[in-house]
Amino acid sequence: MQFKKKILCIGAGYVGGITMAVIADKCPEYKITLVDIDYEKIDKWNSDELPIFEPGLDEIVKRRRGKNLFFEKDMQKEIKEADIIFVSVNTPTKNFGLGAGMAADLQFWEKTAREIRRYAESDKIIVEKSTLPVRTASAMERILSANDKDVHFEVISNPEFLAEGSAIKDLEEPDRILIGYKDTSSGRKARDEIIEIYAHWVSKEKIITSNIWSSELSKLVANAFLAQRVSSINSITPLCEKTEAEISEVARAIGMDSRIGNRFLNPSIGFGGSCFKKDILNLVYICRYYGLTEVADYWEGVVKINEYQRERFVKNMIDAMFHTLANKKICLFGFAFKANTSDTRESSAIYVAKRLIEERAKLVITDPKALNNAKKDLRGIDQNVDYIEDPYEASNGCDAIAVMTEWDIYKELDYEKIYKTMNKPAFIFDGRNILDHKKLFDIGFNVYPIGKPALVHF
Ligand SMILES: NC(=O)c1ccc[n+]([C@@H]2O[C@H](COP(=O)([O-])OP(=O)(O)OC[C@H]3O[C@@H](n4cnc5c(N)ncnc54)[C@H](O)[C@@H]3O)[C@@H](O)[C@H]2O)c1
Repeated sequence: MQFKKKILCIGAGYVGGITMAVIADKCPEYKITLVDIDYEKIDKWNSDELPIFEPGLDEIVKRRRGKNLFFEKDMQKEIKEADIIFVSVNTPTKNFGLGAGMAADLQFWEKTAREIRRYAESDKIIVEKSTLPVRTASAMERILSANDKDVHFEVISNPEFLAEGSAIKDLEEPDRILIGYKDTSSGRKARDEIIEIYAHWVSKEKIITSNIWSSELSKLVANAFLAQRVSSINSITPLCEKTEAEISEVARAIGMDSRIGNRFLNPSIGFGGSCFKKDILNLVYICRYYGLTEVADYWEGVVKINEYQRERFVKNMIDAMFHTLANKKICLFGFAFKANTSDTRESSAIYVAKRLIEERAKLVITDPKALNNAKKDLRGIDQNVDYIEDPYEASNGCDAIAVMTEWDIYKELDYEKIYKTMNKPAFIFDGRNILDHKKLFDIGFNVYPIGKPALVHF
């Protein structure tokens, strides 16, 4: 089949895989190919068991794979053939050298730029899809243009705002598409080509453009603002616990103020996921680099509150269970960093599990989608950890349940049945405030919500 344009995406992870599947679905006249250095991942994308779980993804991949959506291993060939190359490789926090623990590790991204330069034989548009520090596009341009070929690379920034768990909907009905470009004739031409892709299904008013630096920075700032809302509501939870105010009532009262809005006001054990922490730390690092100490300190506080909230949760468990967890059996309900995903990167459950292991508790972990990742996260320290998918079986014989992930199934379980099989006194620590606390208390549990007084029988 003759395709109108050939799009390549380098990096077939969460963002690359899902965004390209949706673009392929919406633009049948474009050929979309993904490559990755991880060949096992490419094999999985070509199999019946995709490398990631995301609601609705299986159907789209099945519909488009082999028609205009391809997962390939020959990067050289694909770079040569592509008109537009999206770069969606990972940009984790650097864990060595200058900026360790703060700055973005750009080695994967830089390697990609060098591969493109090496294999390209014709002009290409390079789209930054990864989240990158502000002004990365200029470094990308410098690497790409350090060639002796007669090839022009136009770099465009097009950050991705999807949220895992609702990614397909976020892509199909985005709040906005942001395209950052250089205001030159080739920059404007490239901008229009990217607009043309999204215009297949996104209305023109929702496709906004800006200069490249604003676009790069907007992604970091969007994540910083979202994470800040989580930390802001969480910072009020200990005060509620001390004063008999209830966080859900406070959240409702402030959320009805249209200036504040009601989203992202759920109290929890803290945010997780691969992006929030790394993007804020990256923002903090850039601010420190430019000598903006007060600004850096302000945003770093968001991460500090998150760490405080996780540790507070563990400390509450220790205090409630008579100051020792040694040899107690604790069941973690959920391990994914949020519901409807198999992703456990930076999940608060990892932190809580590690702390409970340090306290010599025995753990049983249950999760409908994330047990394979949980096993990887706790590899080497899980001698006293069992992984059991069925929550009834998992909680059998346990002293406590700790809710880590807001999966709907945990709201619908038969807690009378669970209570009967647990050690007494039985405890529930609801790290997501999703359960009916009064009902659990009436069944016999000692219940510890977040930001509300505990309901305790003794
Ligand atoms: N996960 C999210 O919710 C989300 C949302 C918006 C933006 N982002 C950003 O998107 C980027 C990708 O995130 P992700 O969650 O998809 O990461 P991921 O780890 O799931 O995927 C990245 C992929 O890139 C591959 N890769 C690395 N170096 C490569 C190279 N040189 N050539 C080919 N492939 C290479 C890796 O093998 C991996 O499969 C990050 O910058 C992230 O901050 C993520």
